[in-house]
Amino acid sequence: EKAGHRHFMAKEIHEQPQTLAQVIDAYTEGDRIVPPVAYDWAATDRVQMVACGTAHIACIVAKYWFESLARLPVDVDIASEYRYREGPVGTDNTALFVSQSGETADTLAALRYARGKARAIVSVVNVAESSIARESDVALPILAGVEVGVASTKAFVNQLAVLLALAIRAGVDRGLVDAAREAELVAGLRALPGLVSTALGIEDRCEALAHELAEASDILFLGRGPMYPLALEGALKLKEISYIHAEGYAAGELKHGPIALVDQSMPIIVFAPKDGLFDKAVSNMQEVMAREGKVLLVTDARGAETASDGVWQVLSMPAVAPVFTPILYAVPAQLLAYHVAVAKGTDVDQPRNLAKSVTVE
Ligand code: F6R
Repeated sequence: EKAGHRHFMAKEIHEQPQTLAQVIDAYTEGDRIVPPVAYDWAATDRVQMVACGTAHIACIVAKYWFESLARLPVDVDIASEYRYREGPVGTDNTALFVSQSGETADTLAALRYARGKARAIVSVVNVAESSIARESDVALPILAGVEVGVASTKAFVNQLAVLLALAIRAGVDRGLVDAAREAELVAGLRALPGLVSTALGIEDRCEALAHELAEASDILFLGRGPMYPLALEGALKLKEISYIHAEGYAAGELKHGPIALVDQSMPIIVFAPKDGLFDKAVSNMQEVMAREGKVLLVTDARGAETASDGVWQVLSMPAVAPVFTPILYAVPAQLLAYHVAVAKGTDVDQPRNLAKSVTVE
């Protein structure tokens, strides 16, 4: 049932080219984005996104996409905060809930709070028969199949794919993405499963590096723009399965506190594809190297060419247009966490203290 893999998590990481292709297929028709359940974004003035854990991190990535592609303001909340804060919900707001299980108690309670106030309740779920799906006006499936590993992997990638498809669709509905741009984005989406498959080729390097990373007591993940939530995801995955303390930070925030932690014993993992923010990320990376921090740079060939000096290790990823990097960089986040956990000998699929579906608040 683990299809030859040591853990469900490994199986689920390796399934991603197929599960991603499946969801992209379900959300596209020819050159167009056509979600399986229709929703018109034209009348929405704001999107309130609410979720927990990894699903919350997917929402932070989605904020970058909705704001850039559809010029729609997005608020992202942790469900356990949102539900008790009782913030205003406008009648033209779309309330959007993301949940793999569709049963997370706080996310469900947040949905019930927004019901009757927002223009519509939209959910992005893996389990189609779940409470969150049933109580939504529009329930959009991520089609990742059953996810057994407690650490979410393929569900995260498919949540991202659906949220990107929705952001493009919102851009179309709002007249900001024309047919040519939509076709170009759809072509880019269709190329992603193949790129994820190529990215999985870094696994041997991740495994080799894991032995040294497993010695650390603290690891910092850094990124800018949509690589900031990927840094959060890398840190979350690592701490939940390897029990190593990890923090994800927006690279520009480093000098406002966390740089005080940096010394030669602290590995710093930097997600920095060669995009418009690359030079800024590199200058933050140099700040930690000047303090003897041990940097693992995850970038593409062009990034590696310009910024490898003084770096401890480089992981080279396939190059892709910036809009797609969050989906691709989920792979190193997962593989590093997985192999560090294996090196530490923890129970990867059933980490201590954690449950797959959190149905109590
Ligand atoms: C982390 C992880 C959790 C879940 C969170 C929300 O790897 O799996 O953080 O993402 O418990 O669960 P769902 O998506 O089922 O609402």
